Amino acid sequence: MRMVFPKNFLWGGAIAANQAEGAYSEDGRGLVQTDVTTGGLVDSPRYTTYIDQDGKPGKVGGLGHHAKIPKGAKFAVLDTEYYPNHVAVDFYHRYKEDIKLFAEMGYSIFRLSISWARIFPNGDDEKPNQAGLDFYRSVFEECRKYNIEPLVSIWHFDTPLALEENYGGWTNRQLIDFYVNYCEVIFKEYKDLVKYWLTFNEINNTTMFLDMFGQKASDQDYQESYQILHHQFVASAKAVQLGHQINPDFMIGNMICGISFYPATPDPKDILANQHKWESGNYYCGDVQAKGKYGTYAKRLWQEHNVQLEVTDEDLEDLQKGRVDMYTFSYYMSNNVTTHTGGEQVAGNFSSGVKNPYLTYSDWGWAQDPDGLQYYLEKIYDRYELPLMVVENGLGAFDTVEEDGSIHDDYRIDYHREHIKAMRRAIANGVDLIAYTTWGCIDIVSAGTGEMRKRYGFIYVDMDDAGEGTLDRTPKDSFYWYQKVIASNGEELD
Ligand code: BG6
Repeated sequence: MRMVFPKNFLWGGAIAANQAEGAYSEDGRGLVQTDVTTGGLVDSPRYTTYIDQDGKPGKVGGLGHHAKIPKGAKFAVLDTEYYPNHVAVDFYHRYKEDIKLFAEMGYSIFRLSISWARIFPNGDDEKPNQAGLDFYRSVFEECRKYNIEPLVSIWHFDTPLALEENYGGWTNRQLIDFYVNYCEVIFKEYKDLVKYWLTFNEINNTTMFLDMFGQKASDQDYQESYQILHHQFVASAKAVQLGHQINPDFMIGNMICGISFYPATPDPKDILANQHKWESGNYYCGDVQAKGKYGTYAKRLWQEHNVQLEVTDEDLEDLQKGRVDMYTFSYYMSNNVTTHTGGEQVAGNFSSGVKNPYLTYSDWGWAQDPDGLQYYLEKIYDRYELPLMVVENGLGAFDTVEEDGSIHDDYRIDYHREHIKAMRRAIANGVDLIAYTTWGCIDIVSAGTGEMRKRYGFIYVDMDDAGEGTLDRTPKDSFYWYQKVIASNGEELD
């Protein structure tokens, strides 16, 4: 059977504002969490820094709202620390050069995010920041120049820090209005430049992190996280409705951190545990955003942690009316689920469960599993029957620059080749897959560890973990390989 990609399949790559742009305090931008987050390593966390009520500097390990600074403390940039996201890879000043390189690879789509704090530095400002609006207009126009469709994430883990400090972040219902107001501004501003939008990046991480590292998570942590998610669901649903009013052609999607879970043994208890893992990990958020209502198993999840969710009738109506037009997700790995103790555990950041003997693991402990992508695509398409996009997929790896400046990243090419074949098989099996944006078309700062050495890009950026480097860009072997893949619409993979 001949397996091919549809004629209008969109090929490209993806980045996120806080990991790529840098220029963290330029042109009126407000702070976000990564501006007060240090670098980490595969086995040591990133730290969030603060000044406590007595004026003493301190830091706490963890990411996003899971990094709890002491009561009365204020987030702060400390002179003693290095913050990799402050400069990142300087996309803010180099976007023209970068987009030109993406065009050379043959991109028809480029996923990036808008930094909320560039548009509303404090999140609750009365008027948007014109410099921020102008920056993204120029970026989108640059994409259009090369016939590249921008695919825009509205939130990529970067709530303005002022909203965290002054309102308690997404635990507070008021955040819904601030977010919707931000959406209204960018939808109106870019309605003729951007068609594809994603409301929240990897929205399911909020609760999935608790389950992954959650031996220590309390019922209160779950209460908070489920309420945060509920507020984000309503915000997303309102944004979908608003977006469709502003431009009925908009295609607005969710974005899920997609992990294929497998039972580690045929023990029926493992089969059930695995099913429940799909529910809590992947379906909980996917169902609300694609079906417009909570799944039947949701009550059990809340009860397990004594969660009392605050939900209004109006919220439920909004969820139903604000269903997404497409389902989009990141896919990096699969996980093994078991109720049995013992068995070799996976070690690495963001990876958990017992080791799968049939798979190999990256240097950061992430299982490499292209079949898992096919499995995910087929399962999810059957569940929602919405167009799908794989909006992140890639291999974080160490790269070596040869004396002549070349970078031979065969391991990355192999990784993508096998995942592209998996997508082809899923399409042949009836899946309506419309786009593939690889993670890190260009090297950027890792979200999980803050490292530069964990490289995903097809374009090398000369920058190290101490902030040393020219920031010069060099195409890797994978750049030329992907160019051929795109030119042949996924037929030439060698
Ligand atoms: C996803 C995020 O979790 O995975 C990205 O949406 C992130 O922001 C990517 O960079 C890869 O993770 P990491 O930790 O290797 O950067």
